[in-house]
Amino acid sequence: MTRPAPQDVRTVACVGAGVIGGGWVAHFLARGYAVRAWDPAPDAEARLRRLVDAAWPALEQLGLAPGASPARLTVTGTLEKAVSEAQFVQESAPEKLELKRELLAKLDAATPAGIVIASSTSGYPMTDMQTEAVTPGRLIVGHPFNPPYLIPLVEVVGGERTDASAVEWASRFYELAGKSVITMEREVPGFIANRLQEALWREALHMVANGEATVREIDRSITEGPGLRWAFMGPMLTFALAGGEGGMAHMLDHFGPSLKSPWTRLEAPELDGALYDAVVAGCADASDGRTIADLVAERDQGVIDVLRATGRLPGTGAR
Ligand SMILES: NC(=O)c1ccc[n+]([C@@H]2O[C@H](COP(=O)([O-])OP(=O)(O)OC[C@H]3O[C@@H](n4cnc5c(N)ncnc54)[C@H](O)[C@@H]3O)[C@@H](O)[C@H]2O)c1
Repeated sequence: MTRPAPQDVRTVACVGAGVIGGGWVAHFLARGYAVRAWDPAPDAEARLRRLVDAAWPALEQLGLAPGASPARLTVTGTLEKAVSEAQFVQESAPEKLELKRELLAKLDAATPAGIVIASSTSGYPMTDMQTEAVTPGRLIVGHPFNPPYLIPLVEVVGGERTDASAVEWASRFYELAGKSVITMEREVPGFIANRLQEALWREALHMVANGEATVREIDRSITEGPGLRWAFMGPMLTFALAGGEGGMAHMLDHFGPSLKSPWTRLEAPELDGALYDAVVAGCADASDGRTIADLVAERDQGVIDVLRATGRLPGTGAR
């Protein structure tokens, strides 16, 4: 077993270097790691270096780790050379189950024992991808958001044959590498954020298909509406504030019956006592001791900050 402590990782391998793999490369370089990348496409190296160069000014603005440099990227001619000295591997190949199965098995065979191998998959459960690997215990999902060098979230989850220690190790490693981590207890296709994004996306497509809204209207309905709040407060606490001083409990009493209305094509769950209590208690937990008044003040300041940051405060060049 050659797994280093998460804080001792110096070299990571990125396998598959398109939009997401390239974004991971830029991220890890900016955080001061040496990165070894491999991608089978003939133009992959040129494409990757263009992506890193284009991202670097943004990364400089964010602040580089000591020693961070695009010069610490090595593009290798084979998968084996990329991973043979890696202390962590991030796979970002195309979203095809058979390809992921075979590639993860190859990576498992070529990577030193114990080193954690993460897949960027958008939605496959690791249980379905780790079937061909000889040592599946070190395979985890590390699902990023585009671009991985700017959007902090990574969702971490193992499969049925993944060791709990690999999930724990990866979560700690990503945190040290500057990511904001959600470690999921259970595998769900699409994980958390993509299920939420996908619900919105599918409803938007239905609305376009049925002539109910235009593409422009759909986008404006988010950027001029709920999206302004979601930048800093999630949909649960945001809705709790729709319940006024009564918070989520009042919101559910007031709008619970609307779950029967045809406001979306997604079917609502039964709002029984257990769900009601879980949502109310979850909001209390997520509030971390903040009162409704605190959250209202935070929301108001947050919306002003987002409007100001995007040049949309009245009198600041509103568009
Ligand atoms: N694009 C997104 O917004 C997004 C967000 C999160 C996760 N993901 C996931 O990241 C992964 C990569 O997606 P992408 O958007 O970067 O796709 P992409 O098409 O931009 O890049 C895929 C890269 O993989 C390379 N490749 C092809 N076969 C390969 C193989 N056998 N081994 C290694 N590399 C191979 C291709 O040459 C290409 O450069 C997918 O699993 C996808 O679901 C994508």
